Amino acid sequence: MRLPVPLSSVGGMDASAADAHLARDVDPISRERLEAQGLQMRLVTDDADREAFIQVVARGFLDPELTDEQVRETRARGSHRRLTGVYDPQAPTSAPVATSASWLSELTVPGGGVLPGSAVSAVSVAPTHRRRGIARALLEAELRSAVAGDVPLAMLTVSEATLYGRYGFAPAASAATWVIDTKRAGWRGPGRSGRVDFIPRETWREIAPALHEEVRQRSAGELEIPAGHWDSFAGTRPDAKDPGKRRAIQWRDDAGRVRGAALYTVTENSDDWTKSRVDVSSLIAVTPAAYAALWRFLLELDLVGEIHAGELAVDEPLWWMIADQRAATITVRDHQYVRIIDVPRALEARTYTGSGDVVLDVEDSLGLSTGRWHLQVVDGIGTVEDVGDSAAAAPVLRLGIEELSAIYLGGVSVATLAGAGRLAVDDPDLVAPLFLTPRAPRLSFWY
Ligand SMILES: CC(C)(COP(=O)(O)OP(=O)(O)OC[C@H]1O[C@@H](n2cnc3c(N)ncnc32)[C@H](O)[C@@H]1OP(=O)(O)O)[C@@H](O)C(=O)NCCC(=O)NCCS
Repeated sequence: MRLPVPLSSVGGMDASAADAHLARDVDPISRERLEAQGLQMRLVTDDADREAFIQVVARGFLDPELTDEQVRETRARGSHRRLTGVYDPQAPTSAPVATSASWLSELTVPGGGVLPGSAVSAVSVAPTHRRRGIARALLEAELRSAVAGDVPLAMLTVSEATLYGRYGFAPAASAATWVIDTKRAGWRGPGRSGRVDFIPRETWREIAPALHEEVRQRSAGELEIPAGHWDSFAGTRPDAKDPGKRRAIQWRDDAGRVRGAALYTVTENSDDWTKSRVDVSSLIAVTPAAYAALWRFLLELDLVGEIHAGELAVDEPLWWMIADQRAATITVRDHQYVRIIDVPRALEARTYTGSGDVVLDVEDSLGLSTGRWHLQVVDGIGTVEDVGDSAAAAPVLRLGIEELSAIYLGGVSVATLAGAGRLAVDDPDLVAPLFLTPRAPRLSFWY
């Protein structure tokens, strides 16, 4: 079998693990299940097949047919993705009838540790083949492939919120979308420091990945951003639409070091030239001073009345930097979905608050993560012991793998899920504080 271009186009992930993931054949259980329906499931490795796959994904997500150039450029940036296609031998073309893609990425967990996870994307089933279990076969295959590779987690971002809970995925990091009335907001953040300068988009493309690498390793919920995404953000793909609409800025500290950068577009308001709209597509700040300076620059742009920014944290310091908080309309939405696979490894990777212990009694309808574990936390560091059926020596937290995945990054508290009837806990006031985190988790992009 010929593999696509070897890794690694994604950050710091162990290249051999990532390559092993790329090479792993499709899950035999799902393949046999689909075979019984006359369908073939296989890895998509050949260039022509990968291009057909890209067109099918575009159609599945209701995009128009892509041009040859768009397909070529997408394929060129997708070599890190392990593509699975489902084929119907009765179909009139050789295009797949269903698709999924995955690659190994690092998920940052509370406390700044990182864990490898399988990032799943491009899940689509042709409308001609829907509702006969193909998506379930693909998702279960992705999860069993992760188990086969000893990958402790899976992650995805979703088009519909109701699709993935049945496989154990939970919304673990929410995203906030802000619309700010800039004429009203005012500024009461820190005074000016350093300097903001315009830079070419190409320069932003060069500096942004390193800035993101610094930020994502201390922000629970973030992932490495695949190389191809940066070209899409910056408009540096040859097939980019309106690349010149993107404006790029950087912020340097007094020592001249670039510590932040932002990318935005402006849409003129021809009804009122003083109220044009700015869309912030990226704002990466390594330091609080960079964060303040970049936001202040955007809020004080002349001829602008409204700023739109998405995929922000739900606890942005910006809320405390504007004089009039009612100038901001904030919408919160599910964003980063996480599915824990290896419970002890996941629990030991993150830090906790204080000391204490709890027995986690975890149920998983797919049978990948069912079990009972004793988590003992001493000064924020957790150790996990498999306790099987033995009597509990600590308060018990009974929950599904979906709920454990929901609390894992600190995006929701044990007490809140207990209040919602989503889990049962002997003593919420004792157990819930352990899992609390100082900051909300965040994922700053879609994949
Ligand atoms: C969503 C999609 C992948 C489902 O594919 P499918 O093969 O029809 O799904 P399946 O037949 O395997 O159904 C699996 C389960 O999901 C449920 N389901 C399927 N589509 C659903 C939907 N749109 N909303 C809620 N539940 C849905 C089914 O009822 C089934 O439940 P069960 O197994 O617990 O009984 C397909 O409709 C599609 O490609 N949609 C457009 C692209 C898209 O949104 N992809 C998801 C990207 S995040």
